[in-house]
Amino acid sequence: MLSRLALSAALAATLAAAGTGEVKCPIIFDGRVPAALEPSAFDSDGNGNPYGAEYVKGRGLTWSQILRFPAGAGASRFENAAAHKPLEVTIGDGSVFQDQRGFRRAGLQFAGDANTGSPGARGLVTLHFSVRQDAARPLNLSHEYLDVWHETSDYAADQVMFQVGTLIGQERLPSDTFKVVSRDGRQLWSTPVDAGAWQNFAIQMDYRKKGFLTNGGKHSTVQVYYSKDDAPLEVVLQATSNNMAGEGQYQLGMLKKPTGTSDVVNSGYQESGIDEGQIYGSVFLEDSSNGCVSL
Ligand SMILES: *[C@@H]1O[C@H](CO)[C@@H](O)[C@H](O)[C@H]1NC(C)=O
Repeated sequence: MLSRLALSAALAATLAAAGTGEVKCPIIFDGRVPAALEPSAFDSDGNGNPYGAEYVKGRGLTWSQILRFPAGAGASRFENAAAHKPLEVTIGDGSVFQDQRGFRRAGLQFAGDANTGSPGARGLVTLHFSVRQDAARPLNLSHEYLDVWHETSDYAADQVMFQVGTLIGQERLPSDTFKVVSRDGRQLWSTPVDAGAWQNFAIQMDYRKKGFLTNGGKHSTVQVYYSKDDAPLEVVLQATSNNMAGEGQYQLGMLKKPTGTSDVVNSGYQESGIDEGQIYGSVFLEDSSNGCVSL
């Protein structure tokens, strides 16, 4: 049984009104949601919407139907309840984008993150995001989920992926972990899903080298930082070779793959009656040239 002290500590952690993390570097894209922003603001571009209104979501659905703003989630590390609120991306049976009947997906793209020439896909940048689980909208970890990624401008690859669940073809990996996965589908690092905490991630991407092994043998790299609740981020994966070429855009939300198919985009099994959610906070991309990173 939890002692009275442990219980009140747990409640305090859950209901924290402010994280103590400070953004120290220039922000390229700020995905944090202003506390006063109305849900309907997500249905059109501009007017303070941190994200694009058109993509990537089920036919006929609006973002104000897809997104939730769970008051009970508390503030994550780089947010303050007076200024920001967490956002929850949900998927249901209608989360079919275009004709991609294999997937259930809803993914946000930063306002201003163009598919080519984006400031998000050059230099040395760090993508921050915190996640928290919604007990009322659990995921089914028998499936593979893509939660956060950067996709090349020709849509042929993802340079880096943040995933959870059972990776198709890599079923020996535990399903109940968050995984940072390389362009070629290798797990670079993982940590268990925590049902009761904010989990804070930062993925630093070096886009300055154009290929995998160019520029005098210097590699494009990915480095990962992690912490829980209000603890400062720490490096958990040192800069590791990864092909970052191909420009493109970030996406954040949920893409649930089907089971039992080799054509995941168009076919396979998805249960009906799903209602799943992933809570996000402290989402921003910062400029890490000069070695700057917010911890
Ligand atoms: C999870 O997904 C698998 C595969 O689609 C399905 O067989 C199972 O019924 C699902 N479980 C729950 C609890 O939804």
